[in-house]
Amino acid sequence: MSEAQLATPFQLDPRAVVGELPGRKIADLTLSIGPHAIIRSFSVIYAGSRIGAHLEEDDVFLAPGVMIANDRHPICRDCMRGPTIKRAARVGINATLLPEIVVGEAALVGAGAVVTRDVPPRAVVVGNPARVIGTVDQLTHSRSYLERTG
Ligand SMILES: CC(C)(COP(=O)(O)OP(=O)(O)OC[C@H]1O[C@@H](n2cnc3c(N)ncnc32)[C@H](O)[C@@H]1OP(=O)(O)O)[C@@H](O)C(=O)NCCC(=O)NCCS
Repeated sequence: MSEAQLATPFQLDPRAVVGELPGRKIADLTLSIGPHAIIRSFSVIYAGSRIGAHLEEDDVFLAPGVMIANDRHPICRDCMRGPTIKRAARVGINATLLPEIVVGEAALVGAGAVVTRDVPPRAVVVGNPARVIGTVDQLTHSRSYLERTG
């Protein structure tokens, strides 16, 4: 059985799923989420997760079809660790982020990229494997976004 502890206050949008049972066996299925969480529609948060306060994407933009892998060697319980997406980063449509990588602050991952290594802050990366082709400061259309996110 799973038990969900969702600290108040929180915002739970329609059709979000909280406490989904994972397919694999996990000893402690208690789910705890700290206060001030914002959980958007269609998010799925699994039982057994422990999440601190202020759960929300941190000015991060994930385009449709972004895939996030959480184990480098599939179904490996010992190597389960997802990527980290830093503040104000943007990830283009259909990009794939491999486990453990860090997408640096305000970086931009191009459409369809497969990110296998850390992306430096403010870098623009494209391709498979993703490689740096420039910086977000060189993208004229990004100005308003970068100014808004500081
Ligand atoms: C990566 C990106 C930001 C580059 O923007 P830009 O610098 O204005 O791009 P350019 O069109 O000048 O392309 C620069 C070069 O990178 C290549 N390139 C651009 N995007 C690429 C991508 N996603 N994958 C592979 N190569 C790409 C171009 O072919 C070009 O190569 P060339 O110089 O050999 O011709 C942009 O192409 C991109 O992928 N944006 C994400 C779009 C998206 O997913 N939006 C969300 C929709 S909901």
